[in-house]
Amino acid sequence: MSHDTSKQNQSRQNLSNYHEIWLFGYGSLIYKVDFPFLDKQKAVINGWQRKFWQGSHDHRGTPERPGRVLTLIESPGSECMGMAYRVTEEVFEHLNIREKNGYLRHEIECRLLDSHNQITKIVKGLIYIASPENAAYLGPLPESDIAEHIARSEGPSGKNSEYLLLLAEALRNLGAHDEHVFTIENHLNDIIDR
Ligand code: SIN
Repeated sequence: MSHDTSKQNQSRQNLSNYHEIWLFGYGSLIYKVDFPFLDKQKAVINGWQRKFWQGSHDHRGTPERPGRVLTLIESPGSECMGMAYRVTEEVFEHLNIREKNGYLRHEIECRLLDSHNQITKIVKGLIYIASPENAAYLGPLPESDIAEHIARSEGPSGKNSEYLLLLAEALRNLGAHDEHVFTIENHLNDIIDR
């Protein structure tokens, strides 16, 4: 199975039928906004958890030495906070390439929040998820081992540690608590101090 999902994503939803297009970002799409947007708002989705269980062969690692980046794992009762962007259809030409390493584009219910975390609107959002069936999936490891893996990985987009540290900072700025991410960040900081 190929890692490259860009072709599949081109035809997964017919975006010209959408009245408004919202993209939900939970990982690098929160802090690396290399696309134009019309509006952005903090948002949550229900039933999913961020996990550093996806391999990165193209951004934070290489085909020989993949790094570890985020995907979402189904988790009934969990809430995942991120950033929603209102975008135009053209943005997905870029995002389908950026998120090509095993991520498929799905529709998801997205709750837009105000600064007091009150829901202002519920919208249909688009989201990139790398499922456990994709060829680049690495799967679970203890968080200390994930930190070791991240500490030694690097790819064309930069150090894998930068992905984790920028994400952790962005989550704090959003007021989002994520035990998995912050535990790995603590382990990584210990490794850096060693
Ligand atoms: C996302 O940020 O929503 C997708 C995963 C990533 O690019 O880090």
